[in-house]
Amino acid sequence: MQSNLRFDEADFTVRTWTFGEETVTCRAYENFLYVKYPSDPEHQVMSLYVPQAYYENKASGGFTRDTAPVFFPNAVGGYMPGLPASPGASRGNEDGNASFQALRRGYVVAAPGARGRTTKDSSGRFNGKAPACIVDLKAAVRYLRANRDAIPGNFERIISNGTSAGGALSALLGATGNHPDYAPWLKEIGAAEERDDIFAASCYCPITNLEQADMAYEWQFHGTKEAYGRAFRKVGDRMEMVPAHTVLTEEQLAHSKALHALFPAYLNSLALAGPDGKPLTLDAQGGGTFLDHVKQAIITSAQQALRKEPGLAAHEWLRIRNGRVEDVDFQAFTAFSTRMKLPFAFDGLNLETPENNLFGTEMIDSLHFTPCARERAGTEGVLADPSIVAMMNPMGAIGAAEAITAKHWRIRHGVVDRDTSLAVPVMLATRLRNHGCEVDFELPWGMAHAGDYDLEELFNWMDQVTL
Ligand code: DHB
Repeated sequence: MQSNLRFDEADFTVRTWTFGEETVTCRAYENFLYVKYPSDPEHQVMSLYVPQAYYENKASGGFTRDTAPVFFPNAVGGYMPGLPASPGASRGNEDGNASFQALRRGYVVAAPGARGRTTKDSSGRFNGKAPACIVDLKAAVRYLRANRDAIPGNFERIISNGTSAGGALSALLGATGNHPDYAPWLKEIGAAEERDDIFAASCYCPITNLEQADMAYEWQFHGTKEAYGRAFRKVGDRMEMVPAHTVLTEEQLAHSKALHALFPAYLNSLALAGPDGKPLTLDAQGGGTFLDHVKQAIITSAQQALRKEPGLAAHEWLRIRNGRVEDVDFQAFTAFSTRMKLPFAFDGLNLETPENNLFGTEMIDSLHFTPCARERAGTEGVLADPSIVAMMNPMGAIGAAEAITAKHWRIRHGVVDRDTSLAVPVMLATRLRNHGCEVDFELPWGMAHAGDYDLEELFNWMDQVTL
């Protein structure tokens, strides 16, 4: 199957959705290829939804056909293959989902699918291992720009959105605009010859900075000796998630200690600065101004929640005086959050994690991607190509001369999300700020691993940054 990369303006259906009091009508162009040489034509497709108003020379949500920002939500989870998102109900309530809300507010929705870690091509080779997912999203952005004359919207106002692995991809897309490292991969799939930098990135709980995430995890969770992971149980014909309780072995505690000891050197190498310009650092025990900075993000979150939720004071790990949250006991807070993953949380010693699987190759399903885990696993196995590992990490591109990094960022990571360390989003947000990006960053109170839970605020932010 091949595509000529030309958008067919005539190939649409008119679709209408209603949620609550709101109705939107749009032209829907669904599941068209965005690369010339797809290896996975099921996923290398995009769906485009354009408010009907723009074909009637009307305004919508304060935007016109020429000024409408482009909402670019990826539906990737778990680094699995993703299909294009479409307007519909949002999980857990009666309102429309993010794509619906975007259309309602006059945005053009361009929803890309992307290859993922489990798929194989017709010759049986894995075709969605890293960096396929980010290369695909870049190709989709390039396709839009290449067809800008045929598609309503302002392609200098592309705003990406994603959750978890999708949040990580949103961050990568935002950080690595036009970076030459991706060029050969884009060429191979026949991406349009265009720019792929974007205007803004919204990232919910990005599972990112993967090669440092094992250390960051133990920096936060080293004091917890039990894990409450996720397991699935069949109830009738439904799957139900139940906590899986594990007590760490002596060996796992030793891994935790070793990883904890390695994190400060990495953190210090970033040379991050806090809001007052002072260095954010860690000492050998894992304490210091960076820890204070993470604690401050928790305190800010608690302070906001306290206004709405008087029962908040019941947590013994918060010190609250006269309605002011003064301090958080980080160790006790972490014990309250509970550990989800065992040491080597990302580069699993038995190659068992989604990340090991992401860094496989055409022929090898899963690989180690940190020398430390490979050494501890005691295997002679191949290590993932470090240049590919680097292509999956936004941290390196921020501030690099070769990349255009998005100016505007919104990062949300639930305060009790245990899928990765709180240090990971804090490092990302801080590095972005240190390089002059505008970052709206919060750890929503009481929130675990989730996304798209505050759509009203998300779109208010988008309206504000696109003005
Ligand atoms: C996701 C969650 C994880 O814990 C992880 O390691 C990778 C991806 C996800 O929900 O996308």
